[in-house]
Amino acid sequence: KRELKTNFIGHDIHYFKEVDSTNDVAKYLAEEGAEEGTIVIAEIQNRGKGRRGKTWISPPGGVWMSIILRPDIPPFNAPQLTLVTGVAVAETLQKECNLDVGIKWPNDILIGNKKVCGILTEVNASIEKVNYVVVGIGIDMNVDVPLFPPDLQKGATSLKNELNTEINGAILVQKFLLEFETIYNEFKAGKFPEILKEWRSLSKTIGNNVEVRTRGKTIRGEAVGINKEGILILELEDGSLRKIISGECLHINN
Ligand code: BTN
Repeated sequence: KRELKTNFIGHDIHYFKEVDSTNDVAKYLAEEGAEEGTIVIAEIQNRGKGRRGKTWISPPGGVWMSIILRPDIPPFNAPQLTLVTGVAVAETLQKECNLDVGIKWPNDILIGNKKVCGILTEVNASIEKVNYVVVGIGIDMNVDVPLFPPDLQKGATSLKNELNTEINGAILVQKFLLEFETIYNEFKAGKFPEILKEWRSLSKTIGNNVEVRTRGKTIRGEAVGINKEGILILELEDGSLRKIISGECLHINN
C-alpha cells in the first residue's frame, strides 16, 4: 500500500483471504456509505460471478478485485465504465508484461485470441442519478490454465501461461490502480471520446466478422464500429446496420 501512487483509488482497501464475490462485498460496503475508490480484493472467491449469471472460477493466484465508484453521470452512461476499465487493464498489461493485448467487445481482455481478464460492472442508480457503480475485475494472473470445467472457460489463458513465469501481484495491482485512476479522471472530465479512441485501437472486434449473442439470439455480421455511447454496430449480410447495446461476442473471424 505504501507504494501506491494514486490520489484516491485504493486508499481504502478491504482485503480478504476468501469471499463469495468481491463485487457483492463491494456492493454491501457501498450501501454502507464507502467512499469512491474503495477497493475489495480477495485471494479466493467461492462464488465469483461472471457476466450473464455465469460462474467465474477464482482460485488462488488470480487478481479478484472490485472498485467502488460514485461518478456524477447519467445512469445511461454508466456502462461506459466497462470500456474505461477495459482500456486501463489492457494498457497495464501491455506496459507491464509487454504482451499483445486486445479487447473483445464488450469487456474481455485478450492475449492473442485467448481471454485473460473479464470485467463485471454493476450499477446502482435511480432514473436520474447513479448512486454507485461497482467494477469487478478478474485477471487470470498466476493461475494454471485450462481452468475447469473446461467448457466454462474455453479459450482462456493466464499471464503465467503466456510469460512462463509468475508475476508480482502487488506490483501489478498498484500499476493497474494508477492507470485506472488516470483514465477514470479523464472520463470524469468528459473525455470519454478520447478513451473510446484508445478502446478502438485495442479492439479485436471492430473490422471483423463476428457472431454476437444478444437476448437469446445469435446474430452474424461485420462489426463496423462502436458509437460514442459504446454501442456496437453490426452490418448484417443484407447490408443493414444493427445496434447491439449489450450481449456477448462469440466468435471472431479475421
Ligand atoms: C466476465 O467476463 O464474465 C466477467 C468476470 C468478472 C470477474 C470478476 S472477479 C472480481 C469480481 N467479483 C466477481 O464476483 N466477479 C468479478
